[in-house]
Amino acid sequence: RQNERESLLIVLNFAKTFFQETMQTTDEGKSIGLSYFRERGFTNPTIDAFELGYTLDQWDALLKEGERRGYSRDLLEKAGLILLKEGSTGGDKKVFDRFRGRVMFPIHNVSGRVIAFGARILKTDKNQPKYLNSPETTVYHKSQVLYGIFQAKQAIRQEDVCYLTEGYTDVISLHQAGIKNVVASSGTSLTTEQIRLISRFTPNVTILYDGDAAGIKAALRGLDMVLEEGLNLKLLLLPDGEDPDSYVHKVGADAFKTYIREQSQDFIDFKASRWLSEAGDNPLKRAEGISDVCVSITKIPDSLKRQTLSQRVAQVFHVSEQSVISEINRLLRKQQ
Ligand code: UTP
Ligand code: MN
Ligand code: MN
Ligand code: MN
Ligand code: MN
Repeated sequence: RQNERESLLIVLNFAKTFFQETMQTTDEGKSIGLSYFRERGFTNPTIDAFELGYTLDQWDALLKEGERRGYSRDLLEKAGLILLKEGSTGGDKKVFDRFRGRVMFPIHNVSGRVIAFGARILKTDKNQPKYLNSPETTVYHKSQVLYGIFQAKQAIRQEDVCYLTEGYTDVISLHQAGIKNVVASSGTSLTTEQIRLISRFTPNVTILYDGDAAGIKAALRGLDMVLEEGLNLKLLLLPDGEDPDSYVHKVGADAFKTYIREQSQDFIDFKASRWLSEAGDNPLKRAEGISDVCVSITKIPDSLKRQTLSQRVAQVFHVSEQSVISEINRLLRKQQ
């Protein structure tokens, strides 16, 4: 077991280096991969820090080089790097690289070893996913991994807060802008294991999701999960149509930091402002809103925190604290 893990990590590291060299030294790599990252504004130190690379638009570039170096097909397959498909005639198996003609984002574990890849297509194509990710393997369980955690962990400790984004390029662009305490729950919606991983470095999380319908939905879902793990939570949606990557490029690092500082809300304000603008003076809608915020409060394990927050809910919705407390108690009884 230990041996298989180590072999996988070694072959994944080889693949990472091969993708880096392909991008830095081949004509196709430079003119397509490297210029793609340049156009997105990524500098050389950034490309190095995240070990970005490129895969040639060929069927077996990695397979050939891997076999030449003595890595077995079996190992390459177990690492998620190649695919084995039965031939249509039932005879020989077809073998080919999983990632072809894409820019490569290695995914590192907390100690900085490559455990998987995210791979972005260069031109939009309705028949192919924008990002292709490694499958689950012995060393990659996507629900347990946060993209960027290795590059971010020191800054998360130092700043005592972790910014949680949606995507690879959000992490990279914020890092380049000097905001290094950033990770992404890439390719999956946020999980409890990912939140526990953050809690090893800080009890404070700020959700920084895209300003579209999907971002709002993901934020509302992530909110209760973060509270359940006993962490302190703030939320901030990017302006509609923007994500942290596009927005930091648009306004610059200083304005982005100011935006985070001035616009992030705690979960009560985040939920309440949505309910209040929808409800107007409709009392039933307001009651629904109060109950919805109370549901989130019941997720918090610490009863003292729940009590303090009840006061805030009462203030925000202009109702008595007692009515909020009795709603929370009703919900807690119902959950038992
Ligand atoms: P987005 O669609 O917001 O992509 O998906 P992005 O990160 O802004 O990427 P760019 O700027 O277009 O390059 C957010 C994240 O969801 C995962 C990826 O991790 C992506 O970064 N995703 C998205 C996939 O795994 N597959 C997809 O096809 C699309
Ligand atoms: Mn798994
Ligand atoms: Mn999005
Ligand atoms: Mn995005
Ligand atoms: Mn983006």
